[in-house]
Amino acid sequence: MSTATLAPANTTPEIVVDKDLGYKIFQIGNFTFERDEYFAHILYPGNRHIMQIEAFLRALMRDVAWGFFYGTVNFDAVFGTVNHYGTVDMFVGRYNEAYRKAKNDYQETFVSKDLREVFVGILDNWTNDGFDPFAAPEESGPAYGAKHGDNKKAVDRQRVVAKRMVGLAGDTPLRSDENGFPINRQFADVKQDVPEIHAKPGHEGEVHAFNLFSYLSRSDVTWNPSICSVVKDSLLCPTTEEQTLPIVHGNDRVEWFIQISDEIFWEISDKTTGAPRSHVLMKAGDVAAMPADIRHQGFSPKRSMLIVWENNNDALPAMHASGELPPYPVEF
Ligand code: PHB
Ligand code: FE
Repeated sequence: MSTATLAPANTTPEIVVDKDLGYKIFQIGNFTFERDEYFAHILYPGNRHIMQIEAFLRALMRDVAWGFFYGTVNFDAVFGTVNHYGTVDMFVGRYNEAYRKAKNDYQETFVSKDLREVFVGILDNWTNDGFDPFAAPEESGPAYGAKHGDNKKAVDRQRVVAKRMVGLAGDTPLRSDENGFPINRQFADVKQDVPEIHAKPGHEGEVHAFNLFSYLSRSDVTWNPSICSVVKDSLLCPTTEEQTLPIVHGNDRVEWFIQISDEIFWEISDKTTGAPRSHVLMKAGDVAAMPADIRHQGFSPKRSMLIVWENNNDALPAMHASGELPPYPVEF
């Protein structure tokens, strides 16, 4: 017989977090965030949601670095944020069918910069020395225990955002041993040659190229699409992936994936309910369009290279929501 008791809905469970561990408690609206040695505790009116601390910090790192991203960032099947580009919803159970049916879902809307400030504070205070929320699990120490040190260098990393293209004069630089980006252990076989540029006389300086495979082989982070080339609303966001995408992304527009090395296994579910919809195994050379009405999470058994192609047109979410645009980009 179990002696455990479950708090009935709509009563606040007693606070169990040990206040002597050295972690700050954070509050915004009716949400309170606490951490202990192993878990993040998210308290909201009537209940508490808990997540393993490493999973929570990895998801939080991305939500912060990507400015709440496009659409929904599910930290797990229960908790997350929805970006309305200026304001942001923070929710528990809002996109989980069982929570909705039981009327146990909860959400509040915040000015994005206010929630960002709280999230930055949590990330900074709860990340211990040795834990790197952007690194592959094999390349990071654990996040557990009482507060010990910090890892400001890791949590303050700036996402690469090219103005036009990586490597152009005045734009975000190429990576090299010299500027602190050695070739990753899993990409030791990636060629490091440099493209030759033969511009028509008079057009020197107007043509640019770089070796994207070499650039990605030197990425020190995982599951972090960098904006590497920009043409109007077309953003090419390559990234290196290893183990599990720490968030489950709910799209508010179509997103294209181009797998350029190795393999990623994707789980696709309904955006609103979380009901499973399909599995996709993408091998090098495969191209897929992720529809606007799904959520997806990737699993990469070996470090792999992926190009995420984003459409930055801010009219798209409303066009999908109203039905003016179908959730998929082509009809066959
Ligand atoms: C996505 O949600 O589409 C996504 C996020 C991060 C990645 C790759 C894909 O590294
Ligand atoms: Fe996505």
